[in-house]
Amino acid sequence: MSEPIIELNNLKKYFAINNGVLAKNSYVKAVDDVTLTVNKGEIMGLVGESGSGKTTLARVILNLTKPTDSHVTFDGVNLSKATRKEMKKFRTEVAVVFQDPASNLNPRDTVMGSITRPLILHGMSKKEADKKALEALEQVKMDSRYLNSYPHQLSGGQLQRIAIARALVLDPKVMILDEPTSALDISVQAQILNLLLDLQENLGLTYLVITHDLNVIRYISDRIAVMYLGKLVELGTTEEVIDNPKHPYTMGLMAASPILNPHERNREKHLMQGDPGSLINLPTGCHFHPRCPYATERCKKEVPKDIIFPDGHQVNCFLYDEKNKTTSEYTG
Ligand SMILES: Nc1ncnc2c1ncn2[C@@H]1O[C@H](COP(=O)(O)OP(=O)(O)OP(=O)(O)O)[C@@H](O)[C@H]1O
Ligand SMILES: [Mg+2]
Repeated sequence: MSEPIIELNNLKKYFAINNGVLAKNSYVKAVDDVTLTVNKGEIMGLVGESGSGKTTLARVILNLTKPTDSHVTFDGVNLSKATRKEMKKFRTEVAVVFQDPASNLNPRDTVMGSITRPLILHGMSKKEADKKALEALEQVKMDSRYLNSYPHQLSGGQLQRIAIARALVLDPKVMILDEPTSALDISVQAQILNLLLDLQENLGLTYLVITHDLNVIRYISDRIAVMYLGKLVELGTTEEVIDNPKHPYTMGLMAASPILNPHERNREKHLMQGDPGSLINLPTGCHFHPRCPYATERCKKEVPKDIIFPDGHQVNCFLYDEKNKTTSEYTG
């Protein structure tokens, strides 16, 4: 039975913009009504084009920024009402690794210094912290001869291993990985992904992996959530979402990825039209309608509701609405 660890219900994060050009009280709706549950021990992949709100969602979950509406529930605790003790626990149980290896580490800190700092901040003695750091370095398969190196002396792959070791030292339950391999070249990417998979299995971790790279997401995730302009448009098992995408946006992403779908017969049909949308000038109705080959008048006016299929596959699109007479045309 799956047990939730991160629960989001209609979560919103809006940024106010008031730069003189746009009218007062305009908002960037970076995360808009996102409902998502990540279960203990699973790898949830979050995919979407640049600017779709992935990092903002991660920052809200990490409590680095407050949601505009609703709240994050972590391991049963509503973070908006958490006590100091609960927040302290939360901060040790959730770790993060960002895309740019250099930004994860202080350039003036040695490898050892970077890894032991969070431990010492949490009240551990220097001796204990050093021991724990060595263990973490072993877990990420880094040689101890790099202990006194500085970030500029290391390769991108080594830096990312150290960032992962640093995330591991507090024995987290959840790791949020925001584009963990995007800055690395392909061969190093594979090594880091395999390391992440080994750690997840050995330590029973839960991951939320954010990327725009469908190959990475397919390789690593158990389930995939797809975001488009602040909204969650599709959610399902990796197999279902990759082999049987239901939202026209996901179909478009797949069509644009020949490696995933080399024999896609309907590639032309599903290739997305126009530019990626903008959060500043959001379309009415379904955000995807200006680029959607199936858009109808209804899509321009109404916001679709989530439709959940018996196997749990979830999609936010009128194509599957019972009221829509043409449903069978697309779902058959
Ligand atoms: N602090 C902020 N103030 C105002 N707007 C912001 C802020 N942070 C993010 N945004 C806006 O929110 C939107 C979503 O940004 P976000 O970084 O979450 O996207 P993303 O999906 O992570 O993109 P990428 O794939 O490029 O990393 C963007 O339009 C961005 O400009
Ligand atoms: Mg991002």
